[in-house]
Amino acid sequence: MKYVIGNWKSNGRWEENARLLTRVRELPRPGVEVGVCVPFPYLAQAREALVGSAARFGAQNVSPFGAGAYTGEVHAEMLREFGCHYAIVGHSERRQYFGESDAVIADKIGRLVAVGITPIWCIGETLAERQAGKWQEVLARQVREVVERAGVDSVGHCLLAYEPVWAIGTGINAEPEDVEAAHAWVRSLLREVGVREHVPILYGGSVKSGNAHALFSVPGCDGGLIGGASLSADEFAAIAAAA
Ligand code: PGA
Repeated sequence: MKYVIGNWKSNGRWEENARLLTRVRELPRPGVEVGVCVPFPYLAQAREALVGSAARFGAQNVSPFGAGAYTGEVHAEMLREFGCHYAIVGHSERRQYFGESDAVIADKIGRLVAVGITPIWCIGETLAERQAGKWQEVLARQVREVVERAGVDSVGHCLLAYEPVWAIGTGINAEPEDVEAAHAWVRSLLREVGVREHVPILYGGSVKSGNAHALFSVPGCDGGLIGGASLSADEFAAIAAAA
């Protein structure tokens, strides 16, 4: 199975969404799961537009808490009630701008798995960390801290996304050799901590129609998390076709 999942980030307008979602409906194929993670206000629109299609939808965040006095938060049970299939956790933009720690990420994963939503758990090193030769250390820390707190069973229900921070939104994708090495490393970390399920590992960071085939052909790459290119129906369709 290959996964092609769009991350709209904080983008979208009602009419453009409607056009895009009409195309997304048609993209799933046998062996290719397609989904979109949309801003909260558009979840209802996505659900309605994708009803009867195999395409899935989800959120881009979730509260680490349950119901209660947490102003501004949306908790996992609400997402489940809405029919969300996924929620993204640990995206580098949330780590960078909202101080999301591995402990918070672990708690979010636990909340999602408890209600049957698939977490799309993002990990990845910064450019400085890669240049310092520390990417393996960084990925190991990100994986181990979450597994320690959330437990191997929760982690076994995730889709993992390896997203090198320097490749996100920059137009500079990681080279296939780097993706292969990183995915193999993450796979070995998951084995080492005792995750027995096959956790799909997606690649994210400047995936577009022109590089999707090469990236998705990398051994150990189970698909992609697509940011900017998921906002264009033609690009996203071409990426899904490459899968
Ligand atoms: P990008 O974003 O495809 O625009 O680089 C990927 C992501 O942030 O998930």
